[in-house]
This record gives sequence, structure tokens and C-alpha cells, in this order.
Amino acid sequence: MVEDKVRICFIGCGHHSMESLQPAVTLIPQIEYVAACDLIEGRAKEAVRRFGAKKWYTDYKEMISEVSPDGVIIVGPPQMHEELGISCLNRGLNVFMEKPPSLTLEGARRICEAMKASGKICMVGTHWRHMPIHRALKKISEREDFGEIFRLEATYLAPDTRGAWGQPYAWGFMLNQAIHPMDCLQFLGGRIAEVEARGIVVEGKKLAISASLHFASGSIGSFVLGGCSPIFYERVGIQGTEGWVEAEQFKKLKYASRKGWMESTDPTAIQTLAFEHGSHYRGVSRPGYVEELEHFAQYIISGSHPHADAEDAYYALKTLDAIIRSVNMEEKILVN
Ligand SMILES: NC(=O)c1ccc[n+]([C@@H]2O[C@H](COP(=O)([O-])OP(=O)(O)OC[C@H]3O[C@@H](n4cnc5c(N)ncnc54)[C@H](O)[C@@H]3O)[C@@H](O)[C@H]2O)c1
Repeated sequence: MVEDKVRICFIGCGHHSMESLQPAVTLIPQIEYVAACDLIEGRAKEAVRRFGAKKWYTDYKEMISEVSPDGVIIVGPPQMHEELGISCLNRGLNVFMEKPPSLTLEGARRICEAMKASGKICMVGTHWRHMPIHRALKKISEREDFGEIFRLEATYLAPDTRGAWGQPYAWGFMLNQAIHPMDCLQFLGGRIAEVEARGIVVEGKKLAISASLHFASGSIGSFVLGGCSPIFYERVGIQGTEGWVEAEQFKKLKYASRKGWMESTDPTAIQTLAFEHGSHYRGVSRPGYVEELEHFAQYIISGSHPHADAEDAYYALKTLDAIIRSVNMEEKILVN
């Protein structure tokens, strides 16, 4: 029975784990960091030294049987997320795994089934939806004076020039990068039922994909991706019958409501909020990392089911796979 603190282990102490997620865990009073594991002994020992894990291991099964945690945070290559994630769920543990859950749709579906069969939590690290700016965006879009949501959009540029984890360029880009804005759109607008996309994909040179989305709710959306970019650039927007709101680069949120509108020249017509966290936020590299792990801990304590789970990640990948098929086949694709 979990009381007011959850006993957590890390599996994988590589770059993202040590630079973002383990520093985040030290900021969450509901988490007790009981042990760290990495195949490389020096990395597991460093987690003890830098972040206060009580013990270190090189074998996750030995760690789990000795310390019996409430949950594990798995941060490694996607093959490891799938294999160890399913194994930990089958052992009755709550799981948080980094994105992507698997290299394949089939693997993401297997994780989803293991989550449902276990009755445990399986969250996937899609931190955009946990960022304060995107939570604020959602809150504004749900207000009465925003009206009915009918249009959503996301634009995302990233530097990847090749497919991550040895995958073909477009699928590797979807697994590594596009899963973030796609998950965020699902968070804001619900599941996507149909896509129609155009694309140019040349490994090492250019990637441009432009997709038209049809949400199950009846809203429509546009989704624009660019690879080989000299910068990261992110923009997410929502239009309702009475309002409009847009978040840019995780920092600037702009919104306007028809009801608040006076004159088009009135500077107060568009409200702007700045999220001035710079490149760091609450001491970790990006906003959303502390919040997603707080969400994980809170849901283990409450015993209820969180969002950003394995099913959300599976549907995000399913939609991204449909976009690639639409580019290749030059036709509309139903997501289900
Ligand atoms: N959400 C985000 O914004 C974000 C950002 C960066 C990375 N990531 C994700 O984090 C994951 C890790 O990326 P990284 O750059 O830190 O990789 P990395 O290669 O630096 O680290 C992976 C670690 O896992 C360890 N490992 C592998 N198999 C293991 C096993 N069976 N048991 C224990 N340890 C094992 C390795 O020894 C290594 O230390 C990737 O899936 C990546 O997509 C997410």
C-alpha cells in the first residue's frame, strides 16, 4: 500500500536520465529515490553520488527483487523501454518509460496490453503536455468564453538529419521528435481519426511533412514538421468559436477572446503571457520534466490512472505512421 511517498528506482543512467530526469526527481518530495541501475557500473554509482539514490545495481531484476520499489523509471534505447517495461509491468510495478515506447507500432501495442493486463500505471515521457504553457493553453481553450474548439495546429522544426536508432529517416524522426507535438495535439483536441499528408524526405538534406488532420471530435488541424533545421522551433495553437490561443517555443502564450475584443488597434485585444524560464526551468533542462514525474508519483499515490499513458503514446505513433503512409500513397488514411 502506497502512503504519501513512492519508492522509485531508475533503470538507465545515461544522458537524459542524468541531465534531466534524475535532477527532476530530487525536486519532488513525494518521491523517495531508492536505487539506480545501469549496465555500466560507473553510471549507476554516479547516480548515488549526484542524486542520492540509496543503492546501485547493474542488473535490474536483482534490484527489483531486493528493494521492491513502487515504480521504476526506464530511460534507455526504445528496445529497452519495450522489453524491460513489459517485464516490470508483469512483475506488478508501476512504470514510467521515456519516449518512444518501442521502435514499432506492434511493440507499442504490446506495452499497452501489458499495462491493461497488469492494472498498473505505464506512463510515457511525452513532456510537452505537462509543460506549464501547454497546460495553460488547454485551460484557456476549455473556458466558456472560448466557445467550441474547431481548429488546432502544431509546427515543429528539429535538427535531425537521419532516422534515429537506425530507422528510415521519416519513421526515426516520428519516433524521436514528432511524437511530442502529436501527443500534445491529442492532449488538446482528442484522438485523430483521419490524415492526409504531403512530404519531401531526403536523408541528410531535407525533411518537410505537412499533414491535414481530422479529429474524432469533428475539429480539423494542421501538422507541419521540418527536419535538418538549424534550430528547434515549436508552435501549438487552438481556435474556438469565441477565442484563439497560441503557444510559441514553450515561452510565449498569446490569446484573444471575441468577448474581450474592443478595437482591433487596442493593444489589450491580444493578451500575452511570457513563461520566462529561459533554457532551464526549476533547475532542469526543459519545462515538463518535473511536472510529468510529479504526475507519475501523484497517480501512484492516489491509485487512479494518469494521462500520457502507453495508450496515448500508441495512438500518437499510430497517427504518425498513418501520416507516413499517406505521404507514400498520396491518399487519405484512416487512423484506425
Ligand atoms: N523526452 C525528452 O525530451 C527526451 C530527451 C532526450 C532523450 N530522451 C529519450 O531518453 C532515452 C535515452 O536517451 P539517452 O540519450 O539518455 O541515451 P543514453 O545512451 O545516453 O543512455 C541509455 C543508458 O541506458 C543504459 N542501459 C541500456 N540497457 C540497459 C539495461 N538493460 N539495464 C540498465 N541500463 C541499461 C545504457 O548503459 C546507458 O547508460 C531515449 O529513448 C530518448 O528518446 C527523451
